[in-house]
Amino acid sequence: MLVKQFLTGGDRNFGYLIADEATKEAAIIDPSYAPELICNFALEKGYKVKYIFNTHDHFDHTNGNETAEHMTGVKALVLGDVDPATGITISDGTILPLGNIKVKIIHTPGHTKDSICILIENALFTGDTLFVGKVGGTGFGDDAIQEYQSLNEKLMTLPKETRVFPGHNVGVAPESTIENERKTNPFLIQPDLDSFIDLKKNWLQYKKEHGIE
Ligand SMILES: [Fe+2]
Repeated sequence: MLVKQFLTGGDRNFGYLIADEATKEAAIIDPSYAPELICNFALEKGYKVKYIFNTHDHFDHTNGNETAEHMTGVKALVLGDVDPATGITISDGTILPLGNIKVKIIHTPGHTKDSICILIENALFTGDTLFVGKVGGTGFGDDAIQEYQSLNEKLMTLPKETRVFPGHNVGVAPESTIENERKTNPFLIQPDLDSFIDLKKNWLQYKKEHGIE
């Protein structure tokens, strides 16, 4: 399987092309600021784009949709959409075929209600739910509670070697693993929900104390 990460612009946004090498079927995640770059890469390498996914409906992730749709003939999908090609609805637990591999949708509300993570083989595309060493922005109420549950119940329970590919390049490295995040991410080493929310409230101070950019 190919995983190609593109630093697209904006707020260090990442877009991705994932492809099944055997059949050349491919998926784009968050075309964002560089739809031409991603689509042209796919074209040049002979990949056939079958899906475009958005990890959530924020402008910095979706603003390349129109161009990407035009260049591939494929409709961009967010949570709740029906893929016109397969008739499959994008919801929690949905599995879509991509050549010989499978794409699994994991609904991870928190940063937004429609946030999804996309698991393809051992690669997890986390959008703005999980970054390397950070987590997605929320308030301090229900959205933070939902994010805590999404992270701990749906993501940290995945196999430890699962690779993590975030929606922004805001950490010490462009990618990580579930194990590394579980052991080192300040938000994921908190013992309970209250400490998680306290860290969100005190994040600027915490960053300063720990030399985090
Ligand atoms: Fe976002």
